[in-house]
Amino acid sequence: SSNQMWGGRFAAGPDAIMEAINASIGFDQRMAAQDIAGSRAHAAMLAKAGIITDKDAEAIREGLLTVLSEIDSGKFNFSAALEDIHMNVEARLKEIIGEPAGRLHTGRSRNDQVATDFKLWVRDQMDAAIAGIEALMKALVAQAEAGADWVMPGFTHLQTAQPVTWGHHMLAYVEMLARDRSRFVDARKRMNESPLGAAALAGTSFPIDRHMTAEALGFDRPAANSLDAVSDRDFALDFLSASSICAIHLSRLSEELVIWSSAQFRFVTLSDRFSTGSSIMPQKKNPDAAELIRAKIGRIFGANTALTIVMKGLPLAYSKDMQEDKEQTFDAADSLMLALAAMEGMVKDMSANRDSLEAAAGSGFSTATDLADWLVRALNMPFRDAHHVTGTLVAMAESRGCDLPDLTLEDMKSVHEHITEDVFGVLGVHNSVASRTSYGGTAPSEVRKQVARWKDLLG
Ligand code: ARG
Repeated sequence: SSNQMWGGRFAAGPDAIMEAINASIGFDQRMAAQDIAGSRAHAAMLAKAGIITDKDAEAIREGLLTVLSEIDSGKFNFSAALEDIHMNVEARLKEIIGEPAGRLHTGRSRNDQVATDFKLWVRDQMDAAIAGIEALMKALVAQAEAGADWVMPGFTHLQTAQPVTWGHHMLAYVEMLARDRSRFVDARKRMNESPLGAAALAGTSFPIDRHMTAEALGFDRPAANSLDAVSDRDFALDFLSASSICAIHLSRLSEELVIWSSAQFRFVTLSDRFSTGSSIMPQKKNPDAAELIRAKIGRIFGANTALTIVMKGLPLAYSKDMQEDKEQTFDAADSLMLALAAMEGMVKDMSANRDSLEAAAGSGFSTATDLADWLVRALNMPFRDAHHVTGTLVAMAESRGCDLPDLTLEDMKSVHEHITEDVFGVLGVHNSVASRTSYGGTAPSEVRKQVARWKDLLG
């Protein structure tokens, strides 16, 4: 039998394969609430503009709430023959309220309808991402506050570089997440224009009020060009690219947690609640959550790539290619929210092993730069010469299998005769970090200032 929406022009129904490739109801039912909100706003506007009667609008608006409650309670029977969420809802509305249901689609098209639904859905996800990021930032700030003066090795090339503070390291991720947050905030502002009323592509001859529906749906204004309004998916790409960058940060933190929780590092202990065991090796406590978060970037960036490729080269205005926007975006959003929540839980629960951090901080000649700086300051040596003298002392310590503070003053003097006892004051890791008071440096005093700033900003 032919289609109930466009059967007038069709003699035969679709092939089963056609239905299978065409139907989006399997996934776009996730936009049911948005679809019904959009239709309710549209119906109210049609009545206000005198395009349909108040009575019909009331029947439509009430009927749509019934449909929504059926969907919410799992009673709704989704049909692939009805293709997508828009036609499933409208067909059910017709069953419930009869003739007025057919007046709802006046002055609009599925093209502006789907753009509106999807925008509303992505907008909610931007808000959820912002909330999830803020929660994680708070957990990191709490770690930073507790360990503002705990020392640990700072790395470059994953080789010991200079001592840093635990608080400083935690706050590095807070900065990254703050940029992520601002990307979502920006994107949300940019996207917040309503496509509704752009109709199929050209606008409509009905005297609709797009400002009214835009306002009812929480948009700042109607989109100004109907062709653009129905063919724009930049908002989803903005969401996916912001999500990808955020996922990069989560994966880097995950990688550190995986390394830090190993027996070789012992920098952190992850809670039982965020670890798993092994079915064969009884001693194991594995950082699975961190590993899975580290992997989520694959799906998220995959979605970003997929939608970029779907959109490139599409002529204006709507093409069915654009139906391929949703599954990728849904999956990426689910992955990001789960990753943020899991990371928040892990960070809240984890305990830093202060002693291991401190022991590691002092090994690997981590205060060699402090020694070189001391030579510059105390002996007025050019930095390049100081670097050379220090390098000689490091080689000496390495050949003896000891650290820099274990060398004697005589050892030091054998390399440079003017070195004095005072040098030992800068070889300790606590003095080292305390001295790094430049703005944004690792000194506990600086870290505490930044902690206070973040606590203030995050409330
Ligand atoms: N299911 C479609 C989508 O997700 C809705 C819009 C269909 N519009 C059309 N002209 N076929 O994109």
